[in-house]
Amino acid sequence: MSSDLDLVHTFREVWAELSGIGRAPDGGYLRFAWSPAEVALRDWFHAQAASRDMPVTHDGNGNLFATWSPAAGASGAVSGRGDGNGPGGVLTGSHFDSVPHGGAFDGPLGIVSAFLAVDLLRARGFRPARPITVAAFAEEEGSRFGVACLGSRLLTGAIDPARAAELTDRDGLALGDVLGAAPAGARPDLVAGFDAYVELHVEQGRALAAPVGVASAIWPHGRWRFDVEGEGNHAGTTLMSDRRDPMLTYAFTVLAANKEARLRDAHATVGRVEVTPNATNAIPSAVRGWLDARAADEATLAALVEAVAKKATERAGRDGTGIRFTAESTTGEVRFDEGLAARLAGLLGGVPILPTGAGHDAGVLSAHLPTAMLFVRNPTGVSHAPAETAADADCAAGVEALARVLEELSST
Ligand code: GLV
Ligand code: MN
Ligand code: MN
Ligand code: MN
Repeated sequence: MSSDLDLVHTFREVWAELSGIGRAPDGGYLRFAWSPAEVALRDWFHAQAASRDMPVTHDGNGNLFATWSPAAGASGAVSGRGDGNGPGGVLTGSHFDSVPHGGAFDGPLGIVSAFLAVDLLRARGFRPARPITVAAFAEEEGSRFGVACLGSRLLTGAIDPARAAELTDRDGLALGDVLGAAPAGARPDLVAGFDAYVELHVEQGRALAAPVGVASAIWPHGRWRFDVEGEGNHAGTTLMSDRRDPMLTYAFTVLAANKEARLRDAHATVGRVEVTPNATNAIPSAVRGWLDARAADEATLAALVEAVAKKATERAGRDGTGIRFTAESTTGEVRFDEGLAARLAGLLGGVPILPTGAGHDAGVLSAHLPTAMLFVRNPTGVSHAPAETAADADCAAGVEALARVLEELSST
């Protein structure tokens, strides 16, 4: 890997190993946590780690860690502090799981780039003074069990493992059953072994014009399920005035969310809905929707969700239905370590520093470790959809940037 061109070529080759895994006919990916596709990616992780002599451990929460340790014979240790001695490690990585029909880059790019950055550093003869660990976090999207960043929340103690064990997927399977045991929950012993976390991720919007940037903040955001109950009845015989139609309340709620978000320069999305019984010629008895809401600050987010819930509840009163909002997962505002972001942006030649509306494991980890994110340009501005992409040259620039950052953070 002596030139930029070599790096582009290497990136393409490694990327091609993953591109068929979990791909649907529309080009999007179905890589739900612990599904056969995601397990195939975990197998790939193990193989990549083995080929680099990086021992793999897991934390009992579904998260994987592969470590390049400077000390020969430190097999199995995930950090230099595993034995209470030595400097803390540098953690990097991302997630394999996708949203339904998501893009190829959201998540896997950070893991692939981490392994290639290790290769680059080794090829240059660099020897880290502290361990470098590549992580694959579980269920970042929450597409299977509903809670975003479930793996990193469990690792850091941000969610009760007993509650997590009971989360069910769309088939009614509980997380505890899928794992074969309740998740281990908080592992302060592991987290304390690291001195920094750096996650590389595709940018996911149109905010980055340069190949690479550094994150400053993540908007506060969350998911609220809303359950609307009405009365199932015949579409042909039920007078319009006799109906208690939950679909009307649902539709109004979607419009209210859109309006309230626009009023606040915030974001509101209803991207998932379940209708019971889901028949063309029956008034539904129930509609369940999910509101994803995000805003630049926590007060605005709270006001947005409150306004939507208030309007929806009033509307339910007029429709003769009932509506209930339940928070499924929420993430407060994340401000990444400002000094670290500025230092890394400078190291990379003055690349842009920018906030994002997308959630990341880095947001969860940032409450426990100095944390930074590198973004790779997203030329289409499309993400969580099959059209998500990134140019090979930008991905190679991302690997180069991550290598420089890991070198900087692990050299002393
Ligand atoms: C995760 O990608 C999210 O921001 O929803
Ligand atoms: Mn995502
Ligand atoms: Mn992601
Ligand atoms: Mn995300």
